[in-house]
This record gives sequence, structure tokens and C-alpha cells, in this order.
Amino acid sequence: MTKQTKKRIGVLVSGGGTNLQALLDAEARGELKSGTIAVVVASKPGAYALERAAKAGVEGVCVERKAYETREAFEAALQKVLEERQIDVLVLAGFMLVLSDQFIKLYPDRIINVHPALIPSFCGDGFYGLRVHERALEYGVKVTGATVHFVNEITDGGAIIMQKAVAIPEGISPEDLQQLVMKEAEHVMLPQAAELLCAGRLSRKGRLVTIDNK
Ligand code: GRF
Repeated sequence: MTKQTKKRIGVLVSGGGTNLQALLDAEARGELKSGTIAVVVASKPGAYALERAAKAGVEGVCVERKAYETREAFEAALQKVLEERQIDVLVLAGFMLVLSDQFIKLYPDRIINVHPALIPSFCGDGFYGLRVHERALEYGVKVTGATVHFVNEITDGGAIIMQKAVAIPEGISPEDLQQLVMKEAEHVMLPQAAELLCAGRLSRKGRLVTIDNK
């Protein structure tokens, strides 16, 4: 595939950016070949993800949620940044804000997110970060994992693209479980899903997503 036909990916982040790093590494290894990470947008200043972008030679921009009075104003600023860079697809990688329906409609079936549980378990409003793993351990499930899904207007509610299960070791802490799920599931699947999306190999009919052969 020539450089010109690659999809331009915008990665939205809020924090440490280990999922971003997995995407950057996949591109460097040639595994993310149908797309190129064109910009990283952080919703918080000082997000370590911006340093990861800089180290990889990728432009990083901060569009701080707090700098805008309304979500509409914030999203208008975000849209401008993305349109100026001709972004085709969005990957939410630890992005802690919920995007509005109007914004999501700008990128139909072109926004994906990674959630650190097997949806529909431990997902939806209030299930983010460490809490997801705390709830899974409290519930006593023996298997958890991660899900990559299309983003729609419902938190963690979009059609599922990929899931990977992770067995929960006895006595593990929420912090260690978070690390384990990232390493074994999120960081493995997110670059794969991004590649499939950029290659135009994901077809969605209602909730059912299928992966087309090359
Ligand atoms: C990950 O667990 C991701 O699933 C969730 O937030 C965390 C972000 O981690 N949405 P990082 O910023 O990619 O390191």
C-alpha cells in the first residue's frame, strides 16, 4: 500500500498512553500498515501520552476539556484540530471523556475504543480505569479481558469488534490486574483492530461486526 492511501489516524488520549504506545510500536514494526498515526490529541495538559507521541515524532496537541465551558465548544475545537489534519479514523486509547452523538456522527463507524473488560460485563457509566478491575474482583469472576468496539452514543455500547479473555490469577490486586489486562489483551488487540479498520476490513450490520478476508 502506498503512503497516500493510508488512512490518517487520530488517537485521543487522556493519560499515560500505554495503548498509544502499543499503536506506535505496531506502526514502527510495520503491523499497522494501512494507517498512519497522524496526530495524538490529549484532553489533559501534561498527559504522558504527549511525550510518547513526541518521542515517536508524531504531532501531539492538547485540547483541554477544562478550557471550554461546554462540551459543544470543546468538541468544536477538537473537530477543528482533526479536520485541519484530515483525519480519517479515530482511536480512543484511554480517552476519559464521553463524546456527543453529534460528534460521533462526524465519523460513522470510524471511531473505536478499547474497554478493559469483556463487554457487557463491567462497562457503562462509571466503569473506567481501576474501578473496572476492582468491580470484577469484588464480583469474583474468574475470567476478565478487554473489548475493542465501535463508539456509539451509549458508553461502551457500540458494536463489538474484538474481545480477548484473561484468566484472573488468585489473589491478584486491582492494580496488577489492570496491568495484566493491558499487556495481554488491550495492547495486543487495539493495533490489530486499528489495522482492520484502516484496511476497510470491518463490516457492521447492526450489532454484528464481521472481519472481511483480504
Ligand atoms: C486502559 O485500561 C483503557 O482500557 C482505558 O483506560 C486505560 C488507559 O491506559 N480506557 P493508557 O492511557 O492507554 O495507558
